[in-house]
Amino acid sequence: MTERVALYPGSFDPLTNGHLDILSRARRLADRVVVAILENDEKTPLFSVAERIGMIREIVGDDPSTPVRSFSGLLVDFAKDVGATLIVRGLRAVSDYEYELQMALMNRRLTPSIETVFLMAKEEYSYVSSRLVKEVAKLGGDLSGLVPESVRQRLVTKL
Ligand code: PNS
Repeated sequence: MTERVALYPGSFDPLTNGHLDILSRARRLADRVVVAILENDEKTPLFSVAERIGMIREIVGDDPSTPVRSFSGLLVDFAKDVGATLIVRGLRAVSDYEYELQMALMNRRLTPSIETVFLMAKEEYSYVSSRLVKEVAKLGGDLSGLVPESVRQRLVTKL
């Protein structure tokens, strides 16, 4: 039987519990879920790609069914490189929809054989974003329950 591979791309700057929830749902849809961190993003990240890979690997472990990789260039090209037929994205509020729709349709135009699927995280994470997590961390707010403890500690150290 052919292995079903999904790609879960993003900035993950840093990983939140919302991301982890989406990842665990994606793992029910595919035999292997490749977590893919974009390199050379125009946004200035707080954590380097190597730090982000390290933080995610620390949590998901060395499980061959959940490799953590970085990529540059077109997402669909990387998806083809790893044999993925699904791109997984988390969808929170309606405000995510427009950006996600544009990306999904552009990716479909580029490679029609790759399908984007949207997953909803648990309601308790529906307002959690990496951007807000960084803001709260910078201002000394409580992040428990929103990010893994190892990520919380790194945020505190960094900020
Ligand atoms: O977590 P993010 O920042 O919303 O993730 C965005 C990401 C990495 C999925 C997106 O920027 C991306 O796929 N970049 C790769 C460049 C690309 O393929 N662009 C054309 C299709 S939209």
